[in-house]
Amino acid sequence: MTMAEDQYAVFGNPIAHSKSPDIHGQFASQTGEALQYTKQLVAEDQFAAAAREFFATGGKGLNITVPFKLDAYEFADQLTERATNAGAVNTLKLEADGSIIGDNTDGFGMVSDITDNQGWTVKGKRVLVLGAGGAVRGVLQPLLEQNPELVVVANRTVAKADALAEQFKRYGKIAGCGFDELSGQPFDLVINGTSASLSGDLPPLPDDLLAEGSCCYDMMYGADLTVFLHWAKERGCSNLADGLGMLVGQAAESFFVWRGVRPEITPVILSLRSKLSS
Ligand code: ATR
Repeated sequence: MTMAEDQYAVFGNPIAHSKSPDIHGQFASQTGEALQYTKQLVAEDQFAAAAREFFATGGKGLNITVPFKLDAYEFADQLTERATNAGAVNTLKLEADGSIIGDNTDGFGMVSDITDNQGWTVKGKRVLVLGAGGAVRGVLQPLLEQNPELVVVANRTVAKADALAEQFKRYGKIAGCGFDELSGQPFDLVINGTSASLSGDLPPLPDDLLAEGSCCYDMMYGADLTVFLHWAKERGCSNLADGLGMLVGQAAESFFVWRGVRPEITPVILSLRSKLSS
């Protein structure tokens, strides 16, 4: 008799192009963990019913993607601190007592990509984050826990940047501002968390934002340089990274939350990168 494999899945809408089954499939074969990971298209108003059904029929854990991260936050019986701060859940785990814990591994994934894979330092650095939406809220706690000198959150709607600065100030030095206030103060690390690049747009950034040795990171990724990274490259920046490593990093942290095992990230990033450009 063979033991049934533990069941995991990603819920989203749309879901057809999700890379999570590929990523977790590679993690499972790497580590020898006996698990199956599938993707499931969930109707917009059916998240809670689908999640309940999944866990009632033996499912052990879920990843949650657009547009269900807030539904998952509501669905969880308990939340981790980082999920509470993010205001969103991308990882659900069935606990031994039958309760469901909600976590958020997006920020950990980004910070581990920046520090471990890129080898960039956050500690003691001046960090600028562009945008103040859900994606940015999800990364501020792990970012501030690296002890940067300062995190500035710049946003088109300044009130949203100010609100995030207020929310996260207990984790470190953080300030909100508008894009027009950025001139004259170069940053060591600039992270683009706006959704502007989806439509090929860039926030209005001053030309003196970067200095010698500055690093630029985009939470988005693609086969080609993102608009933001293209902007940075044109200004002489050579430390450029897109969010593919963040995607694999958040998956690795979810895998660790579920299985207690840390998979290797680099070979999976390389595999995904080669499929992006082919
Ligand atoms: P996400 O979950 O991707 O973060 P979101 O919560 O809708 O999505 O946030 C989108 C972010 O991108 C916001 O910071 C938004 O700025 P506003 O808060 O002012 O709306 C930013 N954004 C989107 N399009 C933009 C553009 N064309 N220029 C500058 N910022 C833009």
